[in-house]
Amino acid sequence: MESRDDIVLVSAVRTPFSKFDSPMKDIPSIKLGEMVIREVMNRVGLQPEEIDEVNYGSCLPAEFALETDVPGRQATLLAGFPGESISLSLDRACCSSLTAMRLGIRGIKAGELKIVMAVGSENMPRCPHLAPGMRWAARLGHLKLIDPLFYLGYDAMGFNTIAVDAGEVALEYGITREMQDEWAMRSHKLAAKAYAEGKIKVGEELMPVEIPRKKGEPLVIDKDECIRENTTMEALAKLKTVYGSPTITAGNAPPISAGSSALIVMTRQEAEKRGLEPLATIVASVCAAAEPRYICTIPAESIEKALAHTGLAIDDMDLIEINEAFAAMPLVSTKILAQDNAGKWDKLKERTNVNGGAIALGHPVGSSAARITMTLAHELKRRGGGYGAAAICGGLAQGEAVILKV
Ligand SMILES: CC(C)(COP(=O)(O)OP(=O)(O)OC[C@H]1O[C@@H](n2cnc3c(N)ncnc32)[C@H](O)[C@@H]1OP(=O)(O)O)[C@@H](O)C(=O)NCCC(=O)NCCS
Repeated sequence: MESRDDIVLVSAVRTPFSKFDSPMKDIPSIKLGEMVIREVMNRVGLQPEEIDEVNYGSCLPAEFALETDVPGRQATLLAGFPGESISLSLDRACCSSLTAMRLGIRGIKAGELKIVMAVGSENMPRCPHLAPGMRWAARLGHLKLIDPLFYLGYDAMGFNTIAVDAGEVALEYGITREMQDEWAMRSHKLAAKAYAEGKIKVGEELMPVEIPRKKGEPLVIDKDECIRENTTMEALAKLKTVYGSPTITAGNAPPISAGSSALIVMTRQEAEKRGLEPLATIVASVCAAAEPRYICTIPAESIEKALAHTGLAIDDMDLIEINEAFAAMPLVSTKILAQDNAGKWDKLKERTNVNGGAIALGHPVGSSAARITMTLAHELKRRGGGYGAAAICGGLAQGEAVILKV
């Protein structure tokens, strides 16, 4: 039953997600963040002064370090927020933009806040190499450059790369390389179909990014750049595994992307007062974590935890979004959610990532959690409403999940 205290999502938008060598690679993530912050407010006629707090997720500090720290503070000020505005920059790896929303919801439920914005912004291709030792200059010998993108750095402190953990645990769960390739091909085909049917478009989920040029009109990017509609199993099978993983390849992994997303949440009462039509009711929003090795399983555990807050079951979910950190994640997690029942697993897979996922759409890490949330809300709406679950894993087996009702 609807209540005036329900938390509702009233506005959501994202930039297109780029390929590695896109013209977007030169736009600081802070500027991409500024763009979505302006647009998500414009869509519902809100002014910066009306937003009580902005939580801003970004998880490649080496990139925003080019503009120094506190990216959330910088992006909000650039977007016209007054000096008195409150923002928080946070990093919970790929979970960050849903963490940003959940913290906002906590503030609203505590009665401290009325309107909260959650942002996720990342420009992975812009991430520079690091040159440790330069400050004190090597007196004798070689200087080393470090690429924070390569392995995403987890090996430096002795952890496995995500690709190793995901590949090994997928095999533990009986998910073969071939199954992961099939899921990757499905992702590309479904994303291409969603575009052909006008489901992913500017004015709804997307806003365009305009890049000024020396001469003439600016370059406009208004589509995700990584969809490969003609992907075949034969081509995928030929790709070599990467990062020491037994199964992960460039084909069943998401590309390295730039992109930003933003969401605005408030109570239903506040939305009614402002005459705003909610995109979705946020029925539950939770975080979870597991042993780092089991990162593939954490979307399932997060969804189960979220469902436990609601009295709903996985069978009540009309749609599911599980971020394709790799193809292994939706496959392992839906298998767990199906409790190893083959028929149920097939049904859950059919309802999962119905418009493709990060393998095809791109995965600018800090902004993907908000992306799966808005994708779910829009698709539920297109289908006339229902319940949906969205979940994402983040480095070393962190998780976030949200249950939506439309
Ligand atoms: C996997 C990864 C290393 C590949 O990087 P890359 O080599 O720059 O990727 P490319 O797009 O050039 O693809 C490599 C090759 O695979 C091929 N390929 C990729 N997807 C394909 C597909 N769907 N079908 C056919 N071939 C494909 C490319 O054509 C390319 O072939 P080429 O070398 O003959 O040109 C990189 O995308 C990556 O690190 N992804 C994971 C990022 C990550 O960890 N995110 C966080 C997860 S939690």
